Amino acid sequence: MTTKSAHSLVPPYIEELQAYKPGKSIDEIREQYNPSRITKLGSNENRWGHSPKVEEALKNQWTSGNNYPDAGARKLRRKLADIYDLSLDNIVLGHGSESLLSIIAKTFFLDEEDAVTAQGTFVGFFVQARIRGIEVKRVPLTDDYRFDVEGLIEAMDDQTKMVYIANPNNPTGTYITVDEFEWLIDHLPEQTFVVIDEAYYEFARELEDYPDSMDYRLDNVITIRTFSKAYGLAGFRIGYAMGESTLIDYMYKTKLVFEPSMPAQKAALAALEDEVFLGKTIEKTKSARQRMYEILDRKNIDYAPSHANSVMLQMESQDTAESLTRDMMKEGVIVRPLAGFGLPACIRVTVGTKEDMDHFEKALDKVFTPR
Ligand SMILES: Cc1ncc(COP(=O)(O)O)c(C=O)c1O
Repeated sequence: MTTKSAHSLVPPYIEELQAYKPGKSIDEIREQYNPSRITKLGSNENRWGHSPKVEEALKNQWTSGNNYPDAGARKLRRKLADIYDLSLDNIVLGHGSESLLSIIAKTFFLDEEDAVTAQGTFVGFFVQARIRGIEVKRVPLTDDYRFDVEGLIEAMDDQTKMVYIANPNNPTGTYITVDEFEWLIDHLPEQTFVVIDEAYYEFARELEDYPDSMDYRLDNVITIRTFSKAYGLAGFRIGYAMGESTLIDYMYKTKLVFEPSMPAQKAALAALEDEVFLGKTIEKTKSARQRMYEILDRKNIDYAPSHANSVMLQMESQDTAESLTRDMMKEGVIVRPLAGFGLPACIRVTVGTKEDMDHFEKALDKVFTPR
């Protein structure tokens, strides 16, 4: 096949699109460097696995793989509706929260309408919006790596349909406060709604000034949460959006009918039954973050205090960040360089088990000498 005419095959916004680059996989690192142990700290997964109730729930379920899943995911939606005191038509499930962001980008925008978000946040929404050719204005983070709510409002105009906020933010682990959230809501243009991505909600919900968007029940806010992080179900691909029923109803019109899959629905239901596992994950994440801070303090590496399951390291330059990333990978520790997030001098490291953190510390001691 010739690629001669490739430029005429797609619209310019697809031609220019930088596809989302996920963190490296274990197989990639094994093929590239073949280290004796591989510790995967590049994708903000749950390093403690998932609830044993998930395995139990999936036993013998594979025999019904010939049937389509329940398109309405009614059992799981009912469970979520009970938890959040909502009705079924306030909830839509998707193939991971990334899919919900894609559904939102597909559903709500006229061609001339734009979105606003931060530079230095999860790029999933940006990519999905650009796939639709939607303009996304990206406002720099504040000096302490937080969403600049005033900057977001300033960037909006009468064509701004939506603002995307990750709270806590990935990759910084920082969050907007109750005051900031309420200020933002008060200053939104009339036609603009908020998509608040709470992928790391479970790790931050105990903070006194963290705004749980579901406490507000606002008609112009869609809340997105996922089973990928605190519940440890990233491989199943399942997340949910909650909001006013008309908005959710529009999302049903554009979502893929049978997402999420049957095993994903069952796994999520089982995961919701296990508060002990969830509580342990939250506690262990907190201690692992503390251990990470101690390691970084000892090595004189700056970081942003985090309320997610990762910590963002601030290196001196892009070169230092890239060489440290490469050297750590050679030692079998997968970390995430953040040039693709607009933070070229930074690296994100997921926190994990004692063995994970031991490996991280040993590798860092070997490859990095503080100035
Ligand atoms: C803020 C944020 N939103 C969404 C996602 C995507 O998660 P999911 O696995 O639910 O698609 C991630 C994954 O890292 C994330 O950090």
